[in-house]
Amino acid sequence: MKTLSNARVSELFESYFGTAPVGTVKAPGRVNLIGEHTDYNGGFVLPAAINYHTYIAFALRGDRQLRLVAYNFDNESVVVDLDAVQVHDTNASWSNYVRGVVQEMRKQGFKLAGGDLYIAGDLHSGAGLSSSASLEMALIRALTSLSQEQIEPTQAALMGQAAENNFVGCNCGIMDQLISARGQEHAALLIDCQDLSTRAVPVPADWEILIVHSGVKRGLVDSEYNQRRQQCEQAAAFFGQPSLRGVELAQLLAAEAELDELSFRRARHVLTENQRTLDAAKALAEGNLASLVKVMVESHASMRDDFNITVPAIDTLVNILAVAGEGKAGARMTGGGFGGCVVAVAPAAVIPRLAAAVEAHYQDQTGCIPTLIRAKASAGAFA
Ligand code: GLA
Repeated sequence: MKTLSNARVSELFESYFGTAPVGTVKAPGRVNLIGEHTDYNGGFVLPAAINYHTYIAFALRGDRQLRLVAYNFDNESVVVDLDAVQVHDTNASWSNYVRGVVQEMRKQGFKLAGGDLYIAGDLHSGAGLSSSASLEMALIRALTSLSQEQIEPTQAALMGQAAENNFVGCNCGIMDQLISARGQEHAALLIDCQDLSTRAVPVPADWEILIVHSGVKRGLVDSEYNQRRQQCEQAAAFFGQPSLRGVELAQLLAAEAELDELSFRRARHVLTENQRTLDAAKALAEGNLASLVKVMVESHASMRDDFNITVPAIDTLVNILAVAGEGKAGARMTGGGFGGCVVAVAPAAVIPRLAAAVEAHYQDQTGCIPTLIRAKASAGAFA
């Protein structure tokens, strides 16, 4: 996909609306290095914001309406009345995120101001790189700029999550919005999803992040996702805890015979993944490649065997990367699962070998077409 810039989106605004915008904002997508399905269990995640964004150019109107245009949807336009009760439109896609964000912001006392907004993104949508969270964060930045209201990055992230949970209908955790809001250049963020504290973990200067889109369309994501979340909550309830964060691995292992098999495996993924995420943050900080590779391999196996969220083509892709990396590349599926992307972390010198192996073998072995995305850890929308 063609990359965009503030200047380019400003031009697009001008050619659509006939006047120049007063400002342009952008919010990044993300890649999660490790810590999958742990966020809504009060656990740890280690994502990085990436150098692909949703951009919004905007200008004030004198009224209480938002007029929004989406470049990636053939300039489809919608009008949102800031003072109306927002109604979910089942036939709409991107505009429900707008309605959800407006509803949450109004509910939380933001006055907001009418404006013309031109939205454009260079994130591969449907890839599991959080184009929706980046749309929410870009919107909140654009809307607060228009109305000159202040907002904290974590508050913005919570608002985006609330829009998805309460309006769009996805029971997602906080990771995607928080990293899109607070990401840092050259670093991943270790986030404790229990108290939302974050710690920047620099990516060693000579390492790179390679994302490979598997070409597998993410199917059944919402229903399977919400079901995994329920299963985790059931497992936590068995131990009388509000979330799995309150359960120790030893406690879980001791209760194996009493728990149903599925709850046990789901909880084992989450509890072992929390530890792997802490180990990965340490490995990244110390530049300990062997240790990072080990936990990424284990994370993928756990997602495949205990959490059951990988698909055969993705398993093949991870295997191709692991073989080509010869122990010098960590690779695992990233994101919610059931398709989407694989992430690899390796010294820059190893990356061409990984890319070549994917080009040579992936389509042959799976019939799916891969897309290689070289990603850089980037700044968040509010950083
Ligand atoms: C999706 C959700 C996140 C997180 C991941 C899985 O991206 O939006 O909150 O749960 O899946 O780690």
